[in-house]
Amino acid sequence: PLLNTIVNPLLSWYYSSARVLPWRDNPTPYRVWVSEIMLQQTRVDTVLPYFERFVAALPDIASLAQADEQQLLKLWEGLGYYSRVKNMQKAALTVMKLYNGKLPASFEALKELPGIGAYSAGAISSIAFGLRFPAVDGNVLRVISRITASADDITDIPVKKRIEQQVTEILPTEAVGDFNQSLMELGATVCLPNGAPRCDICPLKHLCLGFEHGIAAELPVKTVK
Ligand code: ADE
Repeated sequence: PLLNTIVNPLLSWYYSSARVLPWRDNPTPYRVWVSEIMLQQTRVDTVLPYFERFVAALPDIASLAQADEQQLLKLWEGLGYYSRVKNMQKAALTVMKLYNGKLPASFEALKELPGIGAYSAGAISSIAFGLRFPAVDGNVLRVISRITASADDITDIPVKKRIEQQVTEILPTEAVGDFNQSLMELGATVCLPNGAPRCDICPLKHLCLGFEHGIAAELPVKTVK
């Protein structure tokens, strides 16, 4: 049905128009992990210099596991949410102990690690390992709500779960990481929040029900809880 039809146009748009980003150029599991943790609460432009500095100073999981707290603090200073990097170090120590210093190619095993929830596990699984798991962040919730003209409240856990399931059903067998990133990229650069979608340049406007009904800017619905 409707959502299946987004896969090819979205991937084509992604390959022609997506930003060139360092973790996309060279998507090792470690680099994808670092980038996704940084991107959780921080926008791409801000993350870029931090990412380069971080992976230059601590190029692998072994060096992250051994880094001293002062160095971690310095590398993260300005990004905020310092617990993110503390959790990364805890996870790195676990990965050294249990997985020989390599992130496991398993959604479930990744999700067990400190600081890695369903979103990050899905992003790493799909982008770094090519595993078919969704990576549904706020951008993706907004994009899917608009395409399907859904007025369901995306702060409701069951609504979020349904969207994760809808995305899972349409994940391509090839390029699943690119597809997940194309949804995020569309949300970050075209299907903008705060009533400001750029439907004029959207590769999906021909099939978007929110656009068709003139309500894209009003979606998604989010109650303040
Ligand atoms: N936000 C978080 N992760 C992202 C990614 N891989 N691409 C685009 N936006 C993102």
